[in-house]
Amino acid sequence: MTFPAHASIATRVRLNQGPEIPWLGLGVFQSEPGAVTRHAVTYALDAGYRAIDTAAMYQNEADVGESVRGSGIPRDEVFITTKLWHTDHGYDSALRAGRASAARLGLGPIDLYLIHWPRANSPKDRLDSWRALAQLQQEGVCRAVGVSNYTVRHLEELRANSDLVPAVNQVEFHPFVFDPELLQYCDAHGIRLEAWAPLTRARRFDDPTIGAIAAAHHRTPAQVLIRWGLQHGILEIPKSVHQERIRENAQVFDFALTDAELSAMDALRGGARVGMWNPQDIP
Ligand SMILES: NC(=O)c1ccc[n+]([C@@H]2O[C@H](COP(=O)([O-])OP(=O)(O)OC[C@H]3O[C@@H](n4cnc5c(N)ncnc54)[C@H](OP(=O)(O)O)[C@@H]3O)[C@@H](O)[C@H]2O)c1
Repeated sequence: MTFPAHASIATRVRLNQGPEIPWLGLGVFQSEPGAVTRHAVTYALDAGYRAIDTAAMYQNEADVGESVRGSGIPRDEVFITTKLWHTDHGYDSALRAGRASAARLGLGPIDLYLIHWPRANSPKDRLDSWRALAQLQQEGVCRAVGVSNYTVRHLEELRANSDLVPAVNQVEFHPFVFDPELLQYCDAHGIRLEAWAPLTRARRFDDPTIGAIAAAHHRTPAQVLIRWGLQHGILEIPKSVHQERIRENAQVFDFALTDAELSAMDALRGGARVGMWNPQDIP
């Protein structure tokens, strides 16, 4: 699943369930609910972003919805992702949670609804949630469904029990947790990989390899990290609440990393995760 050479911020890629998703979106985890999130979404839409990634757990779905409605941009031009929190696993709870997220967003169908974590009381609960997502899709509450933080093991469990292939698997993905095996698995099954914490939460901007590549392109470490993901065929959803950074993070379509630079960044694999939980530990 290759990233097109002449992409722009408007470029989208078709998901296996039909809808087209922009390659770049704004993440709003830890964007404070209220004016901070509303402004961040507005800055992003003004900068040309057409995808926003929220979740019930972030408690800012209503703010995302309000900014999108107030933007004057036609609804079908903005791609909205939200997620089922793990306390809502199970068939009935997941149905309720999906409908509640759609109501808080107030934007009609959710474009992409994800199971946020495979962390459930049992594999049965997790599979029941997936059945509920399929039902929500049939009812038109969401247009596409997918998962997040699923390892190959969790994806195989799903495959053994359902014909519905997730459109997306959203996982922590940046050079320090580069996982070619998961990427290849998702590619082989038509699942689009999406990176959370694509900027390492700004914790590894001082890495010398990234610094040298950024300097060579007169770019920032953030831009180089986003470009690395895109060139690996991965959807990127960097988060910022600052207008200048939101713009900076979108200026990644007018330069390209060389194969040698990609490999040098791939070799950073094995560094620390920034997320609190390792999905491999989830039974
Ligand atoms: N599915 C999941 O389990 C999961 C987990 C985590 C995140 N996510 C999603 O993925 C999105 C991105 O991940 P993330 O928010 O964890 O981390 P991230 O995007 O890697 O990093 C965000 C951090 O980097 C800072 N930053 C952003 N752009 C910058 C720039 N150009 N220069 C310097 N600092 C910059 C931000 O600060 P400021 O805001 O102050 O600018 C914020 O502290 C989330 O917002 C969320 O939508 C999903």
